[in-house]
Amino acid sequence: MADSFPIRRIDHVRHYVNNARQASYFYQNVFGFNITAYNGLETGSKNQVDYVLEQNDLRLVFSAPLRPGHPMAHAISEHGDFVQDICFEVDDVDWAHKTAVSRGAESGAEPVTWEDDHGTVRYAAIKTYGNVVHGLINRDKYNGPFLPGYRPENIPGDPIGLIEVDHCVGNVELGKMNTWVKWYEDVLGFANLISFDDKDISTEFTSLMSKVMASGNGRVKFPINEPAEGKKKSQIDEFLEFFGGPGVQHVAMRTDDIIHTVSRLQARGLSFLKVPRTYYEALEERVGKIDENIDELAELGILVDRDDEGYLLQIFSKPVTDRPTIFYEIIHRKGAKSFGKGNFKALFESIEREQELRGTL
Ligand code: FE2
Repeated sequence: MADSFPIRRIDHVRHYVNNARQASYFYQNVFGFNITAYNGLETGSKNQVDYVLEQNDLRLVFSAPLRPGHPMAHAISEHGDFVQDICFEVDDVDWAHKTAVSRGAESGAEPVTWEDDHGTVRYAAIKTYGNVVHGLINRDKYNGPFLPGYRPENIPGDPIGLIEVDHCVGNVELGKMNTWVKWYEDVLGFANLISFDDKDISTEFTSLMSKVMASGNGRVKFPINEPAEGKKKSQIDEFLEFFGGPGVQHVAMRTDDIIHTVSRLQARGLSFLKVPRTYYEALEERVGKIDENIDELAELGILVDRDDEGYLLQIFSKPVTDRPTIFYEIIHRKGAKSFGKGNFKALFESIEREQELRGTL
């Protein structure tokens, strides 16, 4: 089937934060990103500052307002630090923007050309759920650092084998999952890869529903969650309450050596959700033979799941912000293309123990 909205890749994930200098220091020192470009007062940007961080094919941007009354400051006061743009690299920005709008998307930014001595970059954006946009970018005619106006930086991190964005998960309000599923189908030609209902994803107390949407070439994967009725407040309700509406819940970053990656992250102080020891006692029975040493996985708290095509290893951080909102997943795929359904129950019970501590269950 022809791809009705070709997307090359996720170009970058932009966060709006209160303090981009400190946020970039955290991502550099914990996740090992290199700081590669900067935009701010010194480069002639009077109202906002931007730090660009890279590791292999992952590119994160941290942007902060420099003055009161900036629209960015308003959004941050609403949500706390948040993912604002999951930006797609496309062949033709004007075609992509026009096509998306004609299929029902709301424009987030009209096509614009940015220019400096290194060439030109074309950018536009469309709005998705909450205050999140999908930028549409093409940098084929540009050979400078990130975007025109930015200066190169060379502040190396100590990379830990993070390769690329595996998937980005959005939390939306009760009853809105199918609205956004249809939006991704209609506007971006995505297909529904997998669905999970409240029977797949439920514990004694809480449940949620999720559908995984994938782009035409399969490179971009967006699970969309909504809360389902449960005895107590679900983690999705908790997110929606503290975030102030729908938004990006987690970004999964892919590694090819999860033991190395997670050992380094833990040594550098990133906190992860833990499952009980009993999870590992039943592991081999559930997933069969795996290459990794189970004691080592248990020590680090890494989870394993198997599907028809292979298995995957994954682990989830605790929220990285003060609000119980955004967190990270580290995922290592060994053939499996799924999302760890076999781990949902153990995982959500672990999240509930955290919610209990926060008094938000
Ligand atoms: Fe995930």
